Amino acid sequence: MTTRLGTTITKKIMEEQRQFPGAKGDFSGMLYELVVALKVIAYEVNKAGLMNILGQAGTTNIQGEIQQKLDVFANTTIIHKMDHTGYLCGMASEEVDDYIPIPDRHPQGGKYVLLFDPLDGSSNIDVNVSIGSIFSIFKKKSTGPKCAAEDFLQPGNQMIAAGYAVYGSSTMFVYSTGLGVHGFTLDPGVGEFILSHPNIKSPKKGGIYSVNEGNRIFWDDKTKKMVDYFVSDDKATGRPYSSRYIGSLVADFHRNLTKGGIFMYPPDKRSPQGKLRLMYEAIPLAFIAEQAGGQAVDATGKRILDIVPTALHQRTALYIGSNDDVETAKKFLV
Ligand code: AHG
Ligand code: MN
Ligand code: MN
Repeated sequence: MTTRLGTTITKKIMEEQRQFPGAKGDFSGMLYELVVALKVIAYEVNKAGLMNILGQAGTTNIQGEIQQKLDVFANTTIIHKMDHTGYLCGMASEEVDDYIPIPDRHPQGGKYVLLFDPLDGSSNIDVNVSIGSIFSIFKKKSTGPKCAAEDFLQPGNQMIAAGYAVYGSSTMFVYSTGLGVHGFTLDPGVGEFILSHPNIKSPKKGGIYSVNEGNRIFWDDKTKKMVDYFVSDDKATGRPYSSRYIGSLVADFHRNLTKGGIFMYPPDKRSPQGKLRLMYEAIPLAFIAEQAGGQAVDATGKRILDIVPTALHQRTALYIGSNDDVETAKKFLV
């Protein structure tokens, strides 16, 4: 008889929590609930072609983007799974205009705040290309029973955990609590994520650049020069780099994290502030990148985790990935 042995997320979190004296298990409990929501989304994504869940939902989100049915499903799944746990005082989602309050049956509220992009890579849903979910967790800062704006608008350097799921050729869950980055693969036979990529370290320098070059016409000269640098021929520095761009940030990021490289979403004439969302995309992935030995900066070369957010749905330019590659990008930015 074969026995399935391996480290589950719960076991790994419990081990990590021992390094935080006084931890009562709330954090592990909360993460466990979130992982269940992500498994439900993964299940739905995997059979999407069979169910009536592909295509547009007929609605738009706060940012005017057309919502897909799976965007709406993933968003509702996370909210419904997490709002009754007692761990959270509030949530914020890319798909919801304002803060998501916790129902009154938890009048004291919880001590954590959860922000998420429920389904990243919407344009790839219908064509069977990798998509994912991204989240970050902060501690509540305000002293009242309910969450306040200051609890959501915290810079990334205050984050206590971040992670993502990728629904790809396998489903993976990657997270960090500031003690390195750990990757788990969903074993569909038992419905558990098992530790498959402990202590992920991104190569110091990569050989991949990822950017939507269809936007080149809208770039400024700095951006054009930067991308031209990565595609120039210079054997000594490993150039030209290979181009890889899926169009699902989470999947592009995950590939570059493991193989080494840089993902760029620069500002352009159509998106002068950049396209990606600071709170739901840039900050959580910046936390993971740094924990894996990489970097993440904005269009001024500023560390993403040091940006103090002023609005929930704030956008940012993003240069993220291997340490040396982001260092190179910075030379063109500053
Ligand atoms: P979302 O599906 O959550 O709206 O995010 C889409 C984002 C991101 O995943 C991806 O990197 C980027 O949009 C792709 O944008 P372009 O199609 O402009 O390249
Ligand atoms: Mn997204
Ligand atoms: Mn999304």
